[in-house]
Amino acid sequence: MGFRKLNNQKIVLTGASSGIGRSMAAQLVRQGNHVLAVARRENRLAALQSELETASGSLSYLAVDVTSAGDRNLVSDWVVQNWDGELDVLINNAGIGSIGPFSESDESTLRNVMEVNFFAAVELIRDSLRHLRQSKSPVVCNIASVLGHTAMPSKSEYCASKFAMHGFSDALRIELKGEGVDVVLVSPSTTRSEFFESVLSGASQQDKGMSADIVGALAIRAIEKRKREVLLSWGGKCLVLADRILPGVVSKLLIRWYRRQCRAVTGIEG
Ligand SMILES: NC(=O)c1ccc[n+]([C@@H]2O[C@H](COP(=O)([O-])OP(=O)(O)OC[C@H]3O[C@@H](n4cnc5c(N)ncnc54)[C@H](OP(=O)(O)O)[C@@H]3O)[C@@H](O)[C@H]2O)c1
Repeated sequence: MGFRKLNNQKIVLTGASSGIGRSMAAQLVRQGNHVLAVARRENRLAALQSELETASGSLSYLAVDVTSAGDRNLVSDWVVQNWDGELDVLINNAGIGSIGPFSESDESTLRNVMEVNFFAAVELIRDSLRHLRQSKSPVVCNIASVLGHTAMPSKSEYCASKFAMHGFSDALRIELKGEGVDVVLVSPSTTRSEFFESVLSGASQQDKGMSADIVGALAIRAIEKRKREVLLSWGGKCLVLADRILPGVVSKLLIRWYRRQCRAVTGIEG
């Protein structure tokens, strides 16, 4: 199967109110697609819609919380009412993080991270399968992370959610192959967005990393090139490769790095 040009496609995209999702929505609509943008902040979604008024595609939006089953049903109902139940692309991008040692975190933080990053996305896929099956060239694209391939200290809950998404996507890809539904796993490295301001604990500013526009463009490219999975930065690729080939060495380096971080923050040996 060759290149799949994303044009005039019906696309549901979660987490479209900021960062990578917002950028993907804008690029997809400018490319002539019809996007249903999903996130909680209605004012942001409305502003994006006005910004894209003259673009060749169209942007509609639903201000919903993806962790609510009732809200996810609204997405499905919208697809039935507006697109006759047909969906070409589902992009699960909505995500949150938490930063800090596991021993200082709590159950509700872990559950929140898993609800948004994993359970909501997976259940949205379950709800969407009947719609995707009506498309000629259906795709599920899950935005994971390099931290869904190689684990980092202070991000155990986030890593758990993204490793879960990685494993789930690999299994689903095989299951849906026979039906022609592609499953693409996109794994960005650090990206400049609002992500680090909205993490459940350890919120911070982040001015390093790739731009959300470049990450969005590479994710769209991965769908168009029918990739199974993509790691978006060279640093991410090298880290994941090193972790596969020399897991003991990478682990030792990370332990040393984490000790230095702990000493810098507390003055106490980590
Ligand atoms: N930034 C990075 O360094 C980085 C690196 C690797 C992977 N990623 C992944 O990339 C994806 C996008 O992150 P980003 O960097 O663009 O962060 P972001 O700017 O914080 O965007 C996150 C999006 O998710 C939405 N969202 C969060 N919880 C939601 C909920 N319960 N229901 C509906 N929408 C929800 C937010 O919208 P509302 O708040 O309006 O609901 C927002 O639109 C995430 O899956 C993240 O894990 C990010």
